[in-house]
Amino acid sequence: MDKAKRTAIIAGNWKMNKTPKEATALLNAIAPLVADADCEVIACVPYVDLAAAIEATEGTNIKIGAENCHWAESGAFTGEISTGMLKEIGVEYVVLGHSERRQYFGETDETVNKRTKAALAAGLKPIVCVGELLWERECNITEEVIARQIKLDLWDVTEEELKNVVIAYEPVWAIGTGKTATADQAEEVCAFIRAQLAKLYNQEAADAVTIQYGGSMNDGNADELLSKVNVDGGLIGGASLVAEKFAAIVKAASK
Ligand code: PGA
Repeated sequence: MDKAKRTAIIAGNWKMNKTPKEATALLNAIAPLVADADCEVIACVPYVDLAAAIEATEGTNIKIGAENCHWAESGAFTGEISTGMLKEIGVEYVVLGHSERRQYFGETDETVNKRTKAALAAGLKPIVCVGELLWERECNITEEVIARQIKLDLWDVTEEELKNVVIAYEPVWAIGTGKTATADQAEEVCAFIRAQLAKLYNQEAADAVTIQYGGSMNDGNADELLSKVNVDGGLIGGASLVAEKFAAIVKAASK
């Protein structure tokens, strides 16, 4: 399948930034700038911003995502948010397994897998993040790390469900550091991810999956990264908080 047939997706990952009022203001600024986008545009925002974000983007082409979800339907999980809660208010996407969750909050491939399966069962589209640490890259085990994450995070996810999965390749050393992977490095790992998907499922299923790159992607480097055949979009942190920068990345993906 050629790249043009896959859905290009630019998703902002706001992390722990913006109050509900600030979220409305930022989305109001972004909306007119991306109105003619020829790719999918998503803003993944903090839980308390979701309702305001959904209201602010009504009638626009911007879709809203959460930054995590729990796997249980309900119960004694203080501080957690269920897929049903997200679905009911109109959330469509959810970021799962972000390296910050893995690094600071004890997220493991097992819990990423549980969350992924729960999200899919609820009709949410997970953006599953994978990526190697700098040390792992230096030790030359990037492919082993990625293969393991892909296999475990997608364990028991059916071929039919895979159609609703987005993969984000985010080398941990490139996140928030200003150190972008080169376009060739991003392409190399995104192609490897697709090959792993082909092994786990089949080539046709793998060819249809949108694979994003994330890690200091910005208005200056998006063109080159997105020109790569296996880089179908971006998961954008810092640059997604500035309307003009985010819109420029959307524009690069719309070519
Ligand atoms: P960054 O973050 O663009 O600020 O590097 C990307 C991410 O963490 O998704």
